[in-house]
Amino acid sequence: MTEVAQTEVTGEFHLSAGDFRQISAIMHAETGVLLDESKNNLVYSRLAKRLRLLRLKNFSEYCAFIESEDGAGERDAMIAALTTNVTRFFRESHHFEHLKKTILPPLIEQAKQGGKIRFWSAACSSGQEPYSMALTVLSLLPDAAKYDVKILATDIDPNMLAFGEAGIYDAALMADIPAELGRRWFAPAKDQPGFFAAGEELRRLVTFRKLNLIGDWPMQGKFHAIFCRNVVIYFDDPTKTKIWDRMVRVMDAKAALYIGHSERLGGKAEQLLRSDGITTYRHKSSMTVPA
Ligand SMILES: C[S@@+](CC[C@H](N)C(=O)[O-])C[C@H]1O[C@@H](n2cnc3c(N)ncnc32)[C@H](O)[C@@H]1O
Repeated sequence: MTEVAQTEVTGEFHLSAGDFRQISAIMHAETGVLLDESKNNLVYSRLAKRLRLLRLKNFSEYCAFIESEDGAGERDAMIAALTTNVTRFFRESHHFEHLKKTILPPLIEQAKQGGKIRFWSAACSSGQEPYSMALTVLSLLPDAAKYDVKILATDIDPNMLAFGEAGIYDAALMADIPAELGRRWFAPAKDQPGFFAAGEELRRLVTFRKLNLIGDWPMQGKFHAIFCRNVVIYFDDPTKTKIWDRMVRVMDAKAALYIGHSERLGGKAEQLLRSDGITTYRHKSSMTVPA
């Protein structure tokens, strides 16, 4: 693979500057993800296998295909290939500690009196984030299934949602889960040596749904905790600001919003929320609302 001009890549296939611009414009319009010119090699390497599979000669044929009526499915495959899905169980563990120590105790008391607990993992990738939220709930409320506890897990990528729904993980990934929680809520996967499956009590707390963060949000009601981590980092500034503003509107008065370690709030969210720990935010008004 050789880089010819700034955005042109040649090799097995030719990716012209125009092809790159077309692909990045579609990604931006459909997902909010910004692919600047430095991402040309990433675009080439992630999509080359799609071209091989479709037996196309170059990226201009690929661009023509994704713009055609028959190429609608391939547009989704392209989006899936170009999004970054890196995640881990209990990633940025301070967020789960805050959830456990600050957010959950009053909610659990309310749930025991018939109240709801509603959490959202807003770019859940392959499920490690929402399952870590569910494991945090189970660590304090092992019989959570008896109460009205729901964790919504959404992502734009259907492959990731299917992965999360299956709830089967390589033993190496399980190392990030506190041993006691892993032993209690996962079991060796049937017919898959070296893999572990989320147990029924864990899975039933989490619902996976496709949702594009820059599209409609059909959910009703407010959330007590939102994890929106390591996704808006890929968006442009106006899109980031819009997402944070929308997040504030779906947060319950005492909710927490957890964001990625390299992300910053902007817009109204910055004025309405206060820091309550590392990349952890709550409504300013929650300071005066008794717990
Ligand atoms: C790096 S992962 C973050 C996973 C998890 N939140 C974490 O921090 O470990 C980013 C996820 O955002 C998803 N994504 C990208 N654009 C999106 C959009 N417009 N709407 C919803 N999800 C999106 C990707 O599919 C990917 O699974």
